[in-house]
Amino acid sequence: AEDLLFNYKGVLYPSTICSEELFEALEIFAARDDDLLIATYPKCGTNWVIQILHEMVSIIKNQETVFDHPMIEFGSLQTLEKHTERLSPRIFSSHLKVQMIPKSFFEKKAKILMVMRNPKDAAVSFFNFYKSMPALPTYESWNVFFKDFINGNVCYGSYFDYVAEWDKHIDEENVMVVTFEDMKTDFPTQLKKISEFMRLPLTNEQLCTVESRTSFTSMKEKSEDTHGKLGDAFFRKGQIGDWKNIFTEEQSKEVDEKFQQHLAGTKLGNLLNYAKYCK
Ligand code: A3P
Repeated sequence: AEDLLFNYKGVLYPSTICSEELFEALEIFAARDDDLLIATYPKCGTNWVIQILHEMVSIIKNQETVFDHPMIEFGSLQTLEKHTERLSPRIFSSHLKVQMIPKSFFEKKAKILMVMRNPKDAAVSFFNFYKSMPALPTYESWNVFFKDFINGNVCYGSYFDYVAEWDKHIDEENVMVVTFEDMKTDFPTQLKKISEFMRLPLTNEQLCTVESRTSFTSMKEKSEDTHGKLGDAFFRKGQIGDWKNIFTEEQSKEVDEKFQQHLAGTKLGNLLNYAKYCK
């Protein structure tokens, strides 16, 4: 099972989906001024926000929702080449740490939306995802997975490093953050914020359409139609606080300590509302 993952510069990646060759090619990837990029650690709401942007663009262009495959680090060199044929605005997403995001996204006026989720729910979601994805190794138990999560020995590395590195870029004009928890608790406000930031102006009525098309239930149903059981891997529960059903007291404290060391007092750490969602 070990060869399902490979190590690139100290971080693990899925070998059936990513390659060193592609990572190197990404260094010279040419972003456009009107590109839209979603940056996330895995399991923090990537597919939710991808769907939101696709619905927004389709309403503005008055066309059926066209779903491009937006993960920049997935696929082959040909996949990368195909992006050059896509019409603007291109929607991209990536789990790569900020240092590996193609520089041109920052040099151009591309908009970068970073989506965060509290680390405890992200860990539980990740564990379940590992279980249901054939492309990822199987863990014998939550406890074993938890150790790897806390030490950054999972795909895409440490959650805490990921967020800490993004914290350095968060004041840049073309970077904005939303959290999974804010979307869950005040979706209309977050949708409006996203549409304005992404230069996708919509009326309130149109925003309501986006809201209903991207609710957990409608996304889950759609995904079951197209992906069957695999859909469950991406749309499992969609809740805040599921971690309480699986974390031991000790594991909870370990995450608290990690948070304290790496993120407490940082801008992104504050936005996570840790005391509310992780205690
Ligand atoms: P759970 O496993 O806790 O259910 P990603 O897309 O980054 O892989 O994140 C997956 C997580 O986002 C899953 O969390 C999934 O259920 C949740 N999710 C996806 N779409 C959602 C939606 N429309 N509303 C709420 N949560 C959603």
